Amino acid sequence: MRTIDTLVAIEPGLDRQAVEATLPPEHGLRLVGVAEPGDDWEIARKQAADVLVVVSRPESPVMLAVIEESVRERPDRAVVVVTGASPNGFMRRIFEAGAEDVVVADEIGEPSLDLRFAVEKAVARRQGSSAREIKHDAGELICVLGPKGGIGKTLTTANLAVALADAGHRVAAVDLDLQFGDLGLTLGLVPEQTSYDLATSGGSLDAAKVATYMTEHVSGAHVLLAPTRPERASHVTVEFLREVYALLRRSYEYVIVDTPPGFSPEVIETVDASSRVCMIGMLDALSLKNMRLALETLARMGYDSDRIRVVLNRADTKVGISLEDTAAIVGRAPDVLVPSHRDITRSVNAGEPIVLASQRSEAARAFRSLADVFVAMRRPDNEPAPRKRRGLRRRDGS
Ligand SMILES: Nc1ncnc2c1ncn2[C@@H]1O[C@H](COP(=O)(O)OP(=O)(O)O)[C@@H](O)[C@H]1O
Ligand SMILES: [Mg+2]
Repeated sequence: MRTIDTLVAIEPGLDRQAVEATLPPEHGLRLVGVAEPGDDWEIARKQAADVLVVVSRPESPVMLAVIEESVRERPDRAVVVVTGASPNGFMRRIFEAGAEDVVVADEIGEPSLDLRFAVEKAVARRQGSSAREIKHDAGELICVLGPKGGIGKTLTTANLAVALADAGHRVAAVDLDLQFGDLGLTLGLVPEQTSYDLATSGGSLDAAKVATYMTEHVSGAHVLLAPTRPERASHVTVEFLREVYALLRRSYEYVIVDTPPGFSPEVIETVDASSRVCMIGMLDALSLKNMRLALETLARMGYDSDRIRVVLNRADTKVGISLEDTAAIVGRAPDVLVPSHRDITRSVNAGEPIVLASQRSEAARAFRSLADVFVAMRRPDNEPAPRKRRGLRRRDGS
């Protein structure tokens, strides 16, 4: 167990010994300073530490100021707050002040493993997010695109996210269809918090805060749902998305974004921020022509075609267009074919993605293979390229 250097700020009037007892050395926390806001705090706060633990009464403005000051001065130092049960509004203000986590303690003085875990998580998160740029090992951002509505973008987003999560990956999905998003319905989720609530929450964004606005699916995927009313869409701005994407890529291996049809500013921002595009088309002549136009638009944006994968939905042989025809119209062969099936319609209506509802169906297999395609694309970046083996040539050159 790694030792975590811990600085503690205590609200004046609280029992210092009781607080120290909350942080026993056998939990791997080494106290480097304990102080109350005031004179000795001016010295203590300069201490090098991995984390600041703020022990506060509920609704304490002094302690909120301590958090804000710490985040401003030492952005790489995590902040965890220990406080009594308090109204929701105060919790939100703690996060807005920049704290990573809050541990609610009825009585201060009990050694708390919750605190130990919160501190560990906060330190890992904060140190991960202190790197300004998207790091080499940042998660993939997969933008699911398609030229028209009703062609299977949402279906693909839902099933790709669930297939990846089910395979044990950390997955986030974002519904960018801000006016008519139905990713939540497709996944059977009830929207309690949406991107609208996050965008209008005020204060700065960090990974922990974004996490509190996401809804968890049974597969383990976390979903940032779309606003529940169309008129709220305008609150989700391009600048907001840029920040959210960067934070999500630090916390998840795969961030999958469902988009509305067309190249709106939000969609263009998502394409720009993405590492991959998953282009969806349907097997009919009009749809294929539109897919070609969309691929040409990506090329004009300078998007490298190696980063694009193509899904052909409703790819049944009955329609009279062969795969060769498809490749000729679109300009490239599809990577994954998804069949048309009434089980899919049923699974959408039931809010149970087909990869879970009907695991052996051809459609489920298609979406799992799509997940495999993106996993295979990610791997080479993280693993050193296998060294070329030298030929077994004899010394004498023969
Ligand atoms: N392969 C398919 N088989 C059967 N129904 C499908 C298939 N693909 C899509 N659908 C139906 O079409 C509807 C629209 O799909 P959706 O993913 O919402 O499209 P988009 O997000 O592109 O607008 C879905 O509700 C589903 O019922
Ligand atoms: Mg959709």
